[in-house]
Amino acid sequence: MRYWIARRRGLPIAYILWIEKGGFRPDAVVELEQIAVAPDLRGKGIGQLLVRQSLRELRQEVTRSGRRIKVIEVTTGSEQGAIRFYRRALGATVVAKIPDLFRGTELVLLARPRIRARG
Ligand SMILES: CC(C)(COP(=O)(O)OP(=O)(O)OC[C@H]1O[C@@H](n2cnc3c(N)ncnc32)[C@H](O)[C@@H]1OP(=O)(O)O)[C@@H](O)C(=O)NCCC(=O)NCCS
Repeated sequence: MRYWIARRRGLPIAYILWIEKGGFRPDAVVELEQIAVAPDLRGKGIGQLLVRQSLRELRQEVTRSGRRIKVIEVTTGSEQGAIRFYRRALGATVVAKIPDLFRGTELVLLARPRIRARG
C-alpha cells in the first residue's frame, strides 16, 4: 500500500492510494484504490498529474525489485467524467460491470502498460 499526498504551502490538497493485489508477484497487479483532490481545486489537472507522477514512482519501485507492472486496475461509478479521467490518465478501458455495489453500478477498468508501450 502506497499513499502520495500533494501539498500546497504545507497543507494537503490531494492524495492517491495505490495497492498491490494478489501478493507480491513478478508480474504485479496494482489498483488505484482511492484518489481525491480538494473540492475547490478540482478540474485544474491536479488529479491527472497525481496519477501520472505516482504511477511513475510506483513503477520505478517495482522495477527496482526486479518485477514489472502487468495490469493496473481501477473501479469507479458509471459517470462518463470518471471513465474519461481514467482513460486519459492510465489508458484504462472498461472490462466489467458490477451491479449494485456502492451507489449503483460499479465499472472495472484495466490498463496493461506493456501492451500500451508496444502499441
Ligand atoms: C476525481 C478527481 C480526483 C479528479 O481530480 P481533478 O484534479 O479534478 O482532475 P483533473 O483536473 O486532472 O481532470 C478533470 C477531469 O476529471 C473528471 N471527473 C469528474 N468527476 C470525476 C470522478 N468522480 N472521477 C473521476 N474523474 C472525474 C472531469 O470530468 C474532468 O474531465 P473533463 O476535463 O473531460 O471534463 C476529483 O474530481 C475528486 O477528488 N473527486 C471526488 C473524489 C472522487 O470522485 N474520487 C474518485 C473516485 S472514482
